[in-house]
Amino acid sequence: MIRSVVRGNGAALPRRIMKNADFEGMVETSDEWIVQRTGIRQRHVAADDETTASLGEAAARAALDSAGLTPADIDLIVLATSTPNNTFPATAVEIQNRLGMHHGFAFDMQAVCSGFVYAVATADLYIRGGLAKRVLVIGSETFSRILDWNDRSTCVLFGDGAGAVVLEAAEGRGDIGDRGVLAASLRSDGVHKDKLFVDGGPSTTGTVGHLRMEGREVFKHAVGMITDVIEATFAEARITANDLDWFVPHQANKRIIDASAKKLGIAEEKVVVTVDLHGNTSAASVPLALSVAVADGRIKKGDLVLLEAMGGGFTWGAVLLRW
Ligand code: ACO
Repeated sequence: MIRSVVRGNGAALPRRIMKNADFEGMVETSDEWIVQRTGIRQRHVAADDETTASLGEAAARAALDSAGLTPADIDLIVLATSTPNNTFPATAVEIQNRLGMHHGFAFDMQAVCSGFVYAVATADLYIRGGLAKRVLVIGSETFSRILDWNDRSTCVLFGDGAGAVVLEAAEGRGDIGDRGVLAASLRSDGVHKDKLFVDGGPSTTGTVGHLRMEGREVFKHAVGMITDVIEATFAEARITANDLDWFVPHQANKRIIDASAKKLGIAEEKVVVTVDLHGNTSAASVPLALSVAVADGRIKKGDLVLLEAMGGGFTWGAVLLRW
């Protein structure tokens, strides 16, 4: 059977790093509050010349380099983002053009923080359905552009960045020992749409708007939703938490990550945590965390890796793959 195997990965971060202490003169907050409630210590913030497209392009080029491929080898780009360069065309198409790629096709995927997990699951279906052989899956965000910088309850939480993987069709035996995407579970429920949203848009206000969040409400639902979808993925693949080599969760809040891992029985040393370095970068957070754990030698070829995310909508999902 056809599997979608990760052939390479990469990341890109804005030049400017903003530490928690840098907020202290802007809003009433402290490094201590932010670290204790979220685990975040710093985040990268895009300059005017750094956009979702430019960061996405840089991450894509890094992923292609690590795969030993060029844009000519790619036939589909799926970009997960909630902060596109423009309302349309899709920023994926802009990245396609920046890469000098004038064949194949490209589109954006909008599932907020779950975007990358949705995009990997979608790319896997395109590959297994025979519509694409090699797919660039990118998560790129510039949330700094939609933050209300006077709202301390949100502006300290988010950061900018991009990460990417190249998925490639490869023949597998059809069992859990195969490399590539092995199982996935996706969910959404719009009844929660007002708990985390942006208060603007082309068809309503005609403006871009700012991020609004009922943080406590999001927190309340997060662990249950994350663990439900992971348990569904474990059941589909007929594995348990003990079989995992690495858990790479969405990096929103260290307390949510810890509580989810504990509830699932995933050992602490198997959990990849980068929220301290990047803050919540929405659809970029999982591929950025992957890039850190691959670069430092933790995630290696053949490892069983679980990706998970939950975000606005609410949307949530998990993907199990063998690296
Ligand atoms: N600095 C200091 N105090 C603050 C700050 C801040 N930056 N932000 C809020 N506070 C205050 C609040 O005003 C409140 O004060 P009050 O008690 O006088 O009213 C107090 O701190 C406690 O506020 P809570 O909201 O109850 O704090 P909580 O412990 O829940 O932590 C947090 C807030 C970090 C937002 C938490 O609720 C959380 O992480 N929620 C989940 C958020 C999340 O993961 N969002 C991303 C989802 S992914 C996506 O799609 C984008």
